[in-house]
Amino acid sequence: MGKIDIENLTVRYKDGGQEFTALENVSFTVEEGEFVSVIGSSGCGKSTLLSVLGGLRAPSSGRASISGAVISGPGPDKSMVFQHYSLFPWMTVLDNVAYGIKQVKKGLARNDRLKLARAFLEKVGLENFKHKFPEQLSGGMRQRAAIARSLAMNTEILLMDEPFGAVDAKNRTYLQELLLKLWEGGNPDGAVVPVDYPVTRGKRKTIVFVTHDIDEAILMSDRIIMLTGSPGKVYKDINVSFTRPRARAVLIQTPEYTQLRNDLFALFFNDFGSNI
Ligand SMILES: Nc1ncnc2c1ncn2[C@@H]1O[C@H](COP(=O)(O)OP(=O)(O)O)[C@@H](O)[C@H]1O
Ligand SMILES: [Mg+2]
Repeated sequence: MGKIDIENLTVRYKDGGQEFTALENVSFTVEEGEFVSVIGSSGCGKSTLLSVLGGLRAPSSGRASISGAVISGPGPDKSMVFQHYSLFPWMTVLDNVAYGIKQVKKGLARNDRLKLARAFLEKVGLENFKHKFPEQLSGGMRQRAAIARSLAMNTEILLMDEPFGAVDAKNRTYLQELLLKLWEGGNPDGAVVPVDYPVTRGKRKTIVFVTHDIDEAILMSDRIIMLTGSPGKVYKDINVSFTRPRARAVLIQTPEYTQLRNDLFALFFNDFGSNI
């Protein structure tokens, strides 16, 4: 049993009397503290998979479980960063993050929630924008806020659906490295978190991270699950064994990186043609 077990997961959508199979017999396990990327072309069922793991959609058959218990709905054990809009438009950025914290830590006083929210907004470089509403921010800034919320919620599992997909290249690089640093260092507690927060130092979160970017997947992941599309199935389960902490600038210079990157591109093109 892993932290997350997905066994013969099939998801069908009913669309105007027609049935469409989005995922078929998907099985894999994610160990506790593992960073697993799910990669595949658009429409292959990545978001569907994440919505099942997030407890937002029930499987048509098969099962998905966390620590051995079938996932039955959203809960304080997991937080999500969605592909598109994740924030409540009627709340400031600060309130969005504080609200996320409230969902998982009911007992924390409002002042402490706000302190914690401010600390995490600072970590993602949004301290000067905390009183803005989401529509006043760029797409990249909104995703940074959503990531801050997810990290501040301090859940055991983080489910991230192309969190950097809509972010410009420079910010994407920055955010990848930020997430990597926070995750590799264990729980993002440290001195910056100003309130008593029950975190275990050095214990890494379990992350399922959806992307269609091969370089991003290699940089971040312990494993890459490659899906084929229509219906989505597991095509390859690839170990990424580079040591951590990883530094992009060093990693990309190594022949091993080039080799893995070439292999992944070859697999991708094999299966998907040019449709990345
Ligand atoms: N609510 C829905 N109703 C019907 N079909 C859907 C629904 N959501 C997704 N799909 C279809 O399921 C397939 C997988 O979608 P999705 O999981 O969003 O893929 P991805 O995230 O990999 O792009 C797509 O063909 C999509 O059109
Ligand atoms: Mg998607």
